[in-house]
Amino acid sequence: MKNLRAFAATLIIAVAAGAARATERAAAPAPPAVPGPAAVPPDDVGQDLYNARCSTCHGRDGKAKTPIGLKLKTKDLTQAALWKDLTDAAITKVMNEGTADKAMPSYQGRYSAEETAALVKYLRAFQPEQSR
Ligand code: HEC
Repeated sequence: MKNLRAFAATLIIAVAAGAARATERAAAPAPPAVPGPAAVPPDDVGQDLYNARCSTCHGRDGKAKTPIGLKLKTKDLTQAALWKDLTDAAITKVMNEGTADKAMPSYQGRYSAEETAALVKYLRAFQPEQSR
């Protein structure tokens, strides 16, 4: 009897959570028409992850002109100077460890190897031509 009640409660919570998610999805506004880097295929995993996890600070356009981006003095990813020492390994390291001053948090263990590679690739789309 107790088990049955617990099961029913779990079921109700699960259904409610599902409904909430569905409402969220329906209410989500269309993404703003801010152009990302050029030549990125649609349904790009790296782009999706970037827009979901990094753009709050770095901005969808990579320029970090968001309120929190400006507050934290986030690096503008479209600046050639930034890319001088930014190897794929260095980007991965920053993602795993955060920045030295911890203004950018650590994402250790948050992404699979494939997702990390996709993010690195997407970040490179912000890199200006002259610094390649
Ligand atoms: C909470 C805000 C925030 C989020 C979210 C964030 N960053 Fe950052 N990021 C920063 C700040 C601030 C800096 C500059 C820190 C500094 O110069 O000390 C930075 C710098 C960087 C740099 C340059 C590092 C360097 O050596 O100059 C890279 C690359 C980077 N972020 C990638 C990412 C990626 C990829 C994500 C998403 C997985 C992400 N960031 C999410 C705030 C953020």
